[in-house]
Amino acid sequence: MQTVRDIDTLRRAVAELRGQGGTVAFVPTMGALHAGHMALVAEGRRRARHLVASIFVNPTQFGPNEDLSTYPRREASDARLLEETGCDLLWAPDVEAMYPAGHATMISVAGVSEDLDGAARPGHFAGVATVVAKLLNQVQPDVALFGEKDYQQLAVIRRMVRDLDLPVEIVGVPTQRDADGLALSSRNAYLTEEERRAARALPRALGEAAGAIQAGGDVEAALAAARDKLVKAGFDQIDYVELRDAETLAPAGDAARPARLLAAARIGRTRLIDNLAIG
Ligand code: PAJ
Repeated sequence: MQTVRDIDTLRRAVAELRGQGGTVAFVPTMGALHAGHMALVAEGRRRARHLVASIFVNPTQFGPNEDLSTYPRREASDARLLEETGCDLLWAPDVEAMYPAGHATMISVAGVSEDLDGAARPGHFAGVATVVAKLLNQVQPDVALFGEKDYQQLAVIRRMVRDLDLPVEIVGVPTQRDADGLALSSRNAYLTEEERRAARALPRALGEAAGAIQAGGDVEAALAAARDKLVKAGFDQIDYVELRDAETLAPAGDAARPARLLAAARIGRTRLIDNLAIG
């Protein structure tokens, strides 16, 4: 596996892969790889002959009080993991290669990025959309893979790719979880042992609410019960527990359309998110 850090070398390396025939899959990440990321790599390998991954901790998607400086960085062990799973190329630009002096263009996706995490983290999805548009233009893959774990991010990227006519297929991969149900996340490393035990309440509360809603129970009562369980389990702040349209993330109203149950809550200094399909 080759690791490349400048765009000219990247383009030459991707052209070389394409010269061998077959399609190219792409998995963008911020590193600190775990089994959730590796599920995207495995799905990419199934869907294309060649696989490119990127590691870039993107400063434009972190708020001023967020964890940009402490975000876990371990490129050497990430690279070994990627190499073992048959990744062909690692794109690992530094901040200057991604955002050269004078960079002035940001992409904002209205609607789907405005509420939920967009409200809790102003500017976050503009940072995500901008870097993902750049990454897709840099690598020019046939297919790119994103986790359902970050469900609103996936919805924002799908909207952007459609709106900008980007020639790439976006594939969502189901959330990978620990044995007790907690969604795998690089940020789980911030949890103390006690917080980690309490965190299981998040998937449980969502699962119970999903069950109640699917059984025809009152939606508002199910959401309130989930919020209550999180507080009782030791979560310090509930950002949201909401039922939304699975595509637009507008408030779910039309029972004929697929819905998604989404939650974000803080425990100690860690913010956790999770979501489940309904119906
Ligand atoms: P990062 O948090 O590193 O996640 C990279 C990809 O892995 C995302 O598509 C995310 O949804 C997926 N992922 C993370 N945990 C997962 C899990 N438990 N199960 C399934 N997939 C999971 O998301 C980002 O980076 C960045 O915002 C990025 C898209 C790279 C843009 O900077």
